[in-house]
Amino acid sequence: MDTSLEAVFKEFDGRKEELISILQETQTRLGYLPKKALLKISRFIHVPESKVYAVATFYTQFRFFPVGKTHIMACRGTACHVRGAPRILNEFKACLGIEEGETTADLEYSLETVACIGACGLAPCAMINDRVQGKLTPKKVAGFFHRSEKNELSL
Ligand code: FES
Repeated sequence: MDTSLEAVFKEFDGRKEELISILQETQTRLGYLPKKALLKISRFIHVPESKVYAVATFYTQFRFFPVGKTHIMACRGTACHVRGAPRILNEFKACLGIEEGETTADLEYSLETVACIGACGLAPCAMINDRVQGKLTPKKVAGFFHRSEKNELSL
C-alpha cells in the first residue's frame, strides 16, 4: 500500500462517517485523489467504490488529477465574467494546450476555474499559485508564457 495512504488510515478507525475527513487527509498528503486511493478508501471503510466516488465528486474541494507546479485558477465569477473572463480562460487554454480541469503532461501547469477569488475589483482575474493576477487581458496572459524561452510563467 502507498505509504502516504497507510499513514492516513492510521489516523482513522475505518468508519463510513469518516469518509470526508479521510478524503481530505488523502488529498492533503497526495495532492489529489488518485483512482487507486479511492478504491483503497472504499475497502478501508467498507463502502462501495461507487459511493466513495459519488461523495468525492459532489464536493468541489476534491480533485482527481495531480496539480501542476504552477496552479492556475481562472475566475469565472460574475464580475470577472462581465469583464471578459471567458476570453481569459480561452487564452490560458490556448497557451497551455489543456482544458479546464487538466494538468500539462510535464506536470508544470494545471488549470481550473473558481466561482470568485474575492478580488472582484481587479476583474477579470486569476489566482496563480498564491498570487492574484488582476485586470487580465488575453495579451497579458499570453505575455506570461512568452517572456521565457522555457515557456515558464514569468510573474
Ligand atoms: S468574480 Fe472574479 S474575483 Fe470575484
